[in-house]
Amino acid sequence: MICNADEGDPGAYMNRNEMESDPHMVIEGMIIGAYAIGANEGYIYIRAEYPLAIERLDRAISDARAYGLLGNNILGTDFSFDIHIARGAGAFVCGEETALIASMEGNTGRPRKRPPFPSQKGLWGKPTNINNVETWCNVASIIKNGADWFTRIGTEKSKGTKVFSLVGKVKRTGLVEVPLGTPVKTIVYDIGGGATDNKKVKAVQTGGPSGGCIPDSLFDTQVDYEHLADAGSIMGSGGIVVMDEDTCMVDTAKYFLEFAVEESCGKCTPCREGTYQMHRILEKITEGKGTNEDIVLLEKLANIIKLTALCRLGQTAPNPVLTTLRYFKDEYLAHVEDKRCPARVCRSLINYYIDPAACRGCTICSRNCPVEAIDGKPGYIHIIDQNKCIKCGTCMEVCNFSAIVKLSGESIDTPFAPIPINKGR
Ligand SMILES: Cc1cc2nc3c(=O)[nH]c(=O)nc-3n(C[C@H](O)[C@H](O)[C@H](O)COP(=O)(O)O)c2cc1C
Ligand code: SF4
Ligand code: SF4
Repeated sequence: MICNADEGDPGAYMNRNEMESDPHMVIEGMIIGAYAIGANEGYIYIRAEYPLAIERLDRAISDARAYGLLGNNILGTDFSFDIHIARGAGAFVCGEETALIASMEGNTGRPRKRPPFPSQKGLWGKPTNINNVETWCNVASIIKNGADWFTRIGTEKSKGTKVFSLVGKVKRTGLVEVPLGTPVKTIVYDIGGGATDNKKVKAVQTGGPSGGCIPDSLFDTQVDYEHLADAGSIMGSGGIVVMDEDTCMVDTAKYFLEFAVEESCGKCTPCREGTYQMHRILEKITEGKGTNEDIVLLEKLANIIKLTALCRLGQTAPNPVLTTLRYFKDEYLAHVEDKRCPARVCRSLINYYIDPAACRGCTICSRNCPVEAIDGKPGYIHIIDQNKCIKCGTCMEVCNFSAIVKLSGESIDTPFAPIPINKGR
């Protein structure tokens, strides 16, 4: 019996919270599960970056042993079961069940082909039941309140509640537990309070780095296994990242793909080489060097990797690209055809200018520019030398008069040399 507490999705901390706040809930679920299937050995595989959760689980396991709830002849019966903690080194792929088992056996944490499934041949060749922390946490309440109670919550096929970690450009971030089937808009607006700084929400990414981006036009989508899959995304461990109008969807796809490239275990070619090539194409596009053929190739590669990668890390890695191509194709085309980043994010495609009508000649920008790209003196309209500017955005951050503008594919008239403010207006 294994409890999967690897929780490798960046930004996800549902399992950590469950283990830190109520470790007995996990242990109780595992004891019931072990009794049901006749298991005598249980392991909690937990990443070493969770020291507090490990400490609390350790203590809870000792307490359970002291109360006769773990160990030999539990509560005087002939049922014996004990739980041990196995620490993982924090590789994302080690959350995959066969890689996790390999790592527990002392081998390199790489997935293997299934079948045989762990339930047939798992840890040290024994049949192994492996479930997530949250799954184990549900068990005791289901036994106590009955299956009907649990199945009344959720949708026809996705039962119960799910904890999500709501992060990104949303007013109220944190962990939220909702019935499966709750619409995206309820989570983003009613619970999360919408976007920060009165911006417009553009999309959400569900399912962590292997998930997909769902546009705001589809926020009626119910968050359950089937509807997320229809939208091209996945539930994953339950991460929801909110993105606002200032997010470039091509850059977002590149960011998530970079994660897959770094975390790919390298065992199979489609994932090892394919995600790397996809990332190269995305880099080309965000640098304004992409072509329409690149977009076609990107989509083709994504679909092939989805079909041919060995494990779900590779099979799902193209999701951010496929969903952004599906819902935000116009942004890809703007990068490729107009050499423009509509969200003004991709560095190679943006420029900073000083608006002569707004500049007060205060000199803060020129004093803070790390490459001395800003020309001017007190009382003079300042100018950014486009050849020197490294597009770090420092000037925009420090200007108190909103005089710095960031543009992509456009420019504004600026003087050739600093001129006194009264002459420049
Ligand atoms: C790349 C990859 C990473 C995974 N990471 C986790 C993880 O961190 N935690 C987890 O419970 N399941 C993870 N899984 C899913 C597990 O393989 C397995 O399906 C899961 O532990 C089953 O638990 P459940 O059915 O109770 O949700 C991952 C799968 C893949 C492909
Ligand atoms: S899909 Fe990626 S992570 Fe999975 S086995 Fe292949 S190389 Fe390894
Ligand atoms: S910080 Fe703003 S107002 Fe001051 S000189 Fe620079 S652009 Fe002009």
